[in-house]
Amino acid sequence: MTALPHKVAVIGAGEIGCGWAALCASAGWPVTVFDASARTLERASIEVPRRARALVALERATQGIVERGLLEFQQGRSLLQAVQDADWVIEAIPEDLLAKQKLFAAVEEVAGAETLVTSSSSGLPPSEVFARCRRQDRCLVAHPLNPPELIPLVEVVPSPRTGAPWVTRAHDYLQALGRMPIVIRKAVPGYVVGRVSAAVWRECVDLVLTGVIDVDGLDRAVSLGPAFGWAAAGPHLTYHLAAGEGGVTLFLQRLLASFEEWWSGLATWNRLEPEQQRALIQAIDRAYKGKLAALGEARDKRLSALLRALEQARTEV
Ligand SMILES: NC(=O)c1ccc[n+]([C@@H]2O[C@H](COP(=O)([O-])OP(=O)(O)OC[C@H]3O[C@@H](n4cnc5c(N)ncnc54)[C@H](O)[C@@H]3O)[C@@H](O)[C@H]2O)c1
Repeated sequence: MTALPHKVAVIGAGEIGCGWAALCASAGWPVTVFDASARTLERASIEVPRRARALVALERATQGIVERGLLEFQQGRSLLQAVQDADWVIEAIPEDLLAKQKLFAAVEEVAGAETLVTSSSSGLPPSEVFARCRRQDRCLVAHPLNPPELIPLVEVVPSPRTGAPWVTRAHDYLQALGRMPIVIRKAVPGYVVGRVSAAVWRECVDLVLTGVIDVDGLDRAVSLGPAFGWAAAGPHLTYHLAAGEGGVTLFLQRLLASFEEWWSGLATWNRLEPEQQRALIQAIDRAYKGKLAALGEARDKRLSALLRALEQARTEV
């Protein structure tokens, strides 16, 4: 059994870094955050406690444990001070390969020999992210979903040089945080979550930009349509269950021809031109403008309600 970390260092205190820090603090773990921007670090000193305490209100964490964790929540004065003595370093700086490579080379200079090092990258190959590290055995990607303190899934992506005991350690830390780690065997760009999201989102954007439906209608159609079913059973199980006893064999006989016709007409573009970006932004603004904070809070409330329902419905099969 892996011992819990005595200290976690989170490097980069933006959206994801604050989420990781709030999650660790909510488990009572001592966390130090560091950011290259003093202003962002200052903001994190308010944002991390706010997000950790919000978990109590959402019934995802216990007040006493959160407050204990927050007592040991610190802003690092330097990378050295943040990383020193940490058992786990979580990187959450922007998705820029060169910046991540430089950061990990600097982290390596100050991290202890037994420190686990993970990147929050959304899709970069870990063999490239850690290319400048001498010790690549203890490095891997742990890709969270946003917000990391609420959505339990984390994609664990080792490189060919990651050591098995370090994958186990990352897995154990994540499980201790109530996460659901899934190990990705081949580090394809975007891993699994990013690729599926990109494929679905391209079609969603296309349906809006070609006037088939407006943003609000599309979002409802996906949330209450495929995404609603997929929250209970993934796409393969959903279709395996869609033709009664005949399972996926019968489903394919009945509907494959329709799917093939639809596939042949799906969007295939791989660039969103500036005028299309403007049109998309306008359409999304029309649907949601001026309500971002309230919409975020309402989304988090629905997420925690869904999690509770899924936990209560957990079965053996
Ligand atoms: N936002 C998401 O939905 C999401 C989801 C999952 C994973 N990710 C991944 O997480 C990572 C962080 O994303 P984000 O959305 O939090 O970005 P962000 O821009 O909100 O935050 C990044 C922070 O890193 C800081 N930073 C930049 N260089 C630094 C350095 N060398 N040392 C210390 N701090 C530095 C910046 O000042 C900034 O505050 C990215 O790799 C991203 O792909 C993002």
